[in-house]
Amino acid sequence: MTYSNTEGLEKLLNHTEFNVDIHPKPSQEKLLQLIPDYDGLLIRSEVKVTKEVIERSANLKLIVRAGTGVDNIDQTAATQKGIVVANIPGGNTISATEHTIALLLALSRNIPQAHASLKSGNWEREKFTGTELQNKVLGLIGLGRIGKEVAKRALSFGMKVIAYDPYVTDEYAKSIGAELKSLEEIYSQSDFISLHTPLNESTKHLINKESINKMKDGVRIINCARGGIIDEKALYDGIKSGKIHSAALDVFEKEPLPKDSPLLELENILLTPHLGASTEEAQIKIAQESSELIIDFFTKGIIRNAVNIPQVDLETFKNIKPYLDLSEKLGLFQGQIIEGRIKEIELIYGGEISNLNLSLVTLSYLKGLLTPILDIKVNFVNASYIAQERGIKIKESKVSFSED
Ligand code: NAD
Ligand code: MLT
Repeated sequence: MTYSNTEGLEKLLNHTEFNVDIHPKPSQEKLLQLIPDYDGLLIRSEVKVTKEVIERSANLKLIVRAGTGVDNIDQTAATQKGIVVANIPGGNTISATEHTIALLLALSRNIPQAHASLKSGNWEREKFTGTELQNKVLGLIGLGRIGKEVAKRALSFGMKVIAYDPYVTDEYAKSIGAELKSLEEIYSQSDFISLHTPLNESTKHLINKESINKMKDGVRIINCARGGIIDEKALYDGIKSGKIHSAALDVFEKEPLPKDSPLLELENILLTPHLGASTEEAQIKIAQESSELIIDFFTKGIIRNAVNIPQVDLETFKNIKPYLDLSEKLGLFQGQIIEGRIKEIELIYGGEISNLNLSLVTLSYLKGLLTPILDIKVNFVNASYIAQERGIKIKESKVSFSED
């Protein structure tokens, strides 16, 4: 199929070893119909790779999410089937950051409302009096790639930046100029709250009726991360009651935002249709990185940015490479001589390599061990899942000395 915007994908499209088809915005039905033909899938956030899609795939080995969030892919189903799921994080960090800052400024000065009012013939200067950002408190929830860049820019406006992120250290936050706080403190101290976490079990409806009640009166909320982190019903009620001054949302529980969404009735709301990553620069960067990742995966067996396989750095990988081959062969050998049910496996690593991250070596052993026993294709992605499913306990221990 022809598609006009293929900038950044040239390497992949011109590669002699690949047949690439482009299907812009396929329906779920169409996706199910197409999927059995493909070895690899490159998608943005609108395509939903459900369990059903994965089950229907016959040859699929790699799913690449051209962007950060992988919440539109059923990772459990992909892992069970041994399909690598990879993302391209970072390529759209600056675009998403700048969109967040645009929303922050637009909220503080009522820009969309003032624009709409003027366009409809009014001149309402008092109605749209805004608030300065300087000396206001910005509470960030999530201090990863985007959170960090938002913090840097907000500091340049003279804002005080506080953040909640249970997976980063005080030193890291301080190095950015932000102060780590508890969630309760974020709620009670922030004039603006901006969300920058993934959508997962711990963040689903993090912003709900109870958390909104704990916020400062007149708080402004921005979500450029994922719909579903905010309970939209609670947000609606919060804005209606005046507890929340206003909100700016780029992402929604259901996308596209349904035409009958109550959010559309609100005046104090600024909505954009998931535009965070939609800049020419981000789309080209991500397309180029995706092309290279796919080419390296299928032509050289190199797996980058996988979210369902343990990641090791290049240096570690070079050091463990001989052990990957050895452990797979040991597993393969034992898988053929073992009789009866396997209940527990203990891998003891000794000597110098015990200082390294050896999770891939363990997976390699399992791959070897389970391959002759099972009918299904075992690989790095599904080896540990299959062992678990069969009730096999895996113990990994390390000793600093090596024995014969
Ligand atoms: P990231 O992985 O670099 O950062 C996420 C941060 O969230 C991490 O530091 C992590 O420790 C933290 N976190 C995880 N669970 C948390 C919790 N329960 N409470 C607080 N912090 C928690 O990701 P990123 O690249 O900064 O992206 C952030 C979000 O923005 C993602 O949801 C991504 O999908 C989304 N995104 C949206 C757009 C868009 O178009 N609107 C564009 C890019 C990214
Ligand atoms: C992302 O998670 O990277 C964004 O949602 C961008 C997108 O794919 O639209």
